[in-house]
Amino acid sequence: MSSQKLACIILAAGKGTRMKSALPKVLHKVAGRSMVGHVLAAARSLSPDDIVVVVGPGMEAVSAAVSPARTVLQPDQLGTGHAAKAARTPLADFSGDILILYGDTPLITAETLRGLVETRRSAGAALAVLGMRPEVPGAYGRLLVTDGRLDRIVEAADATPEQRAVGLCNGGIMAVDGALLFGLLDRLTASNAKGEYYLTDIVALANADGRVCIAVEGSAEEVIGVNSRAELAEVERLLQGRLRRAAMAEGVTLIDPESVWFSADTKIERDVVVGPHVWFGPGVSIGEGTEIFSFCHFEGVAIGKGARVGPFARMRPGARIGDGAHIGNFVEVKNANVEAGAKANHLTYIGDARVGAGANIGAGTITVNYDGFGKYRTDIGAGAFIGSNSSLVAPVSIGDNANVGAGSVVTEDVPADALAIARGRQRTMPDRARTWRLRKAAEKAAKAAGGT
Ligand code: UD1
Ligand code: CA
Repeated sequence: MSSQKLACIILAAGKGTRMKSALPKVLHKVAGRSMVGHVLAAARSLSPDDIVVVVGPGMEAVSAAVSPARTVLQPDQLGTGHAAKAARTPLADFSGDILILYGDTPLITAETLRGLVETRRSAGAALAVLGMRPEVPGAYGRLLVTDGRLDRIVEAADATPEQRAVGLCNGGIMAVDGALLFGLLDRLTASNAKGEYYLTDIVALANADGRVCIAVEGSAEEVIGVNSRAELAEVERLLQGRLRRAAMAEGVTLIDPESVWFSADTKIERDVVVGPHVWFGPGVSIGEGTEIFSFCHFEGVAIGKGARVGPFARMRPGARIGDGAHIGNFVEVKNANVEAGAKANHLTYIGDARVGAGANIGAGTITVNYDGFGKYRTDIGAGAFIGSNSSLVAPVSIGDNANVGAGSVVTEDVPADALAIARGRQRTMPDRARTWRLRKAAEKAAKAAGGT
């Protein structure tokens, strides 16, 4: 990119009424990341000199989500032009190009943004608008182009039937000469169908000043605007397609790609094999050669190399699974470090714990980490063997290479190399089952005889 300065304005103050949600629209998630988070990530990859996000009243959650990017308040939602104007104060000392993005177009890519900025610069235009041809132009603004010049943008609500028949639509992203932007915004009026200050009207105003405006056509998929839950689902579908293709291109096997769901930040190394119906929530990394069997659910977990996980495993935030470890079916791990080569193959809960290298956790083992008030830690040493159906009542530690007998409820620390058995001692009474059975059968027969 050339040395000229660049600032980005992201409009995110709209109420998003059509989402019918208590959550601000731009915080709805796509691939585990808020829509505004996606737009911000694309903007950031241009390394702009400044980014300002325009938010509405009560949208502290949006400000928190975009931090450390600066936010500015648009007190009333009077339209996209009014929103862009709110960035005047934070950008008072800025001179250079301004890229305006909408917080509800999460599929935009850095390459497209870069292309738009470059094209405006090289064409010497006052502004360049990203256009697209969606299958259904619907409510998008229409770009009216003559002889390669963008004359104006007409919103669908204000368009004549002829204008509505135009297929080239406004993707909502604009690169503008920063020296002109705020002067143009000052001249906007709200005399239109919606009674709003439309950002899109600056095109006609720039043309009236004899300036050149251009449209750059891009892919419709990248600029789908999300205004409803159905559009949110469509955007999710498209992004999942991108993420699956990217994972496979990096050497990951997806046995049934359509049923594997990624987050935007999923890190997955080569030769990982992922079975059908696996969900990667935010904050997951998987090391080379690890095999993930079907029906697993992951969030906030780092899995090492050459491990085997699932089927039906749930890894929750703070889980770390070491190289070569085995986590089997119906095993849940939360805030726990399962070290290299350790195994928990069946029906286990490991929470707030360490499982030392090579330890074996028997079926049905539970770390009892919560007493209704506090959470406590369990520490299991390297090479320890925990017999099936044991409860380890935290805080408690099991030393290296110690054994715990099956069915134990362990409440005291077990030293290294010790065997602990903490369960009722077995009593066996010879013949007792047979005598009991005979007595009960006789009682039943006597009752039946007495009844007739
Ligand atoms: C807008 C465009 C339309 C374009 C479409 C692309 C205008 C007038 N229309 O329509 O030409 O085809 O996007 O998706 O710009 N916002 C604010 N403050 C406001 C109003 C909106 O910050 O007062 C923000 C919203 O949070 C949203 C963005 O601006 O992120 C776009 O607003 P929205 O109401 O969704 O515009 P559209 O009707 O989709
Ligand atoms: Ca929109």
